[in-house]
Amino acid sequence: MVRKAIIPVAGFGTRFLPVTKAIPKNMIPVLDHPAVHYAVAEAAQAGIRDIVFVVSKNQESVERYFHNNAELEDALDSRGNVAKADEMRAIAKLVNVSSVLQEQQLGLGHAVLMARDKIGAEPFAVFLPDDIIWDDHPTIGAMIEQHNEHGANVIAVKEVPDSAVPFLGIVDGQPVGEHEYALSGMVEKPSLEDAPSNLAIIGRYLLSPEIFDVLERVEPGAIGEIQLTDAIKMMMVDPGVRAYRFPGSHFDVGTPAGLLKASIYAALQRDEMKEEIVEWMKVTIAEQGA
Ligand code: G1P
Repeated sequence: MVRKAIIPVAGFGTRFLPVTKAIPKNMIPVLDHPAVHYAVAEAAQAGIRDIVFVVSKNQESVERYFHNNAELEDALDSRGNVAKADEMRAIAKLVNVSSVLQEQQLGLGHAVLMARDKIGAEPFAVFLPDDIIWDDHPTIGAMIEQHNEHGANVIAVKEVPDSAVPFLGIVDGQPVGEHEYALSGMVEKPSLEDAPSNLAIIGRYLLSPEIFDVLERVEPGAIGEIQLTDAIKMMMVDPGVRAYRFPGSHFDVGTPAGLLKASIYAALQRDEMKEEIVEWMKVTIAEQGA
């Protein structure tokens, strides 16, 4: 049973300046929900109950978003907008949330280590909220099933073009099922020549708590940061590492273009706006000669 997840949200959000001067990056909306909402909803759908956000200063709004806002809910109720009020209450019921402060941005591995005391000695999930994966069956749920079956750590992967390889974690392994790989190696942000494959780590991890001891010891790696990939690599033999090549639709909302694509994709899933958006895109593309 996996009950807990870590969601690192600390950082300056440099790619989204100037908005991130005042708003945490993961609170920027993808269509009409903050980006972090999608990771939390996926976790909740897979039965995860407790979320630990790893935050930097001035990011209280991330946790607050998942709390009740009684004043707002009452105001909506009294105006007869009960459906909206219920929608707001449902967000607060998704999961229990808490935060730990990461005072220095020393890397993803360091961020995960900050949440150690909140996780304790049980297997847990990590979500990178810049990676949104839409699937009816939650990706992390399939990874939990894989973990339950094999006891191994599990990471989500997808095939990426050569141009993306130097910016991601890349894995080496053998297929052992329709969507599963048994891994024998992994490397963070390799040059194209050093990359063992085009299978890249995407921000979902299912990890055993032994990773924390490894993270205490791991030295800074790629781009001078304490890398989660380097710690997972040290667990390759025991208890082993598997990859889940997920079938869902993935968007990297860590860049403005990716965020826009995800918003359009989300709009196309909505009956009430699909037609309007499609029409507008057709006309605009024709007019712009694109
Ligand atoms: C992190 C991980 C990397 C992974 C990527 C996915 O990198 O270190 O292995 O491929 O997320 O989004 P970052 O994007 O923080 O540089």
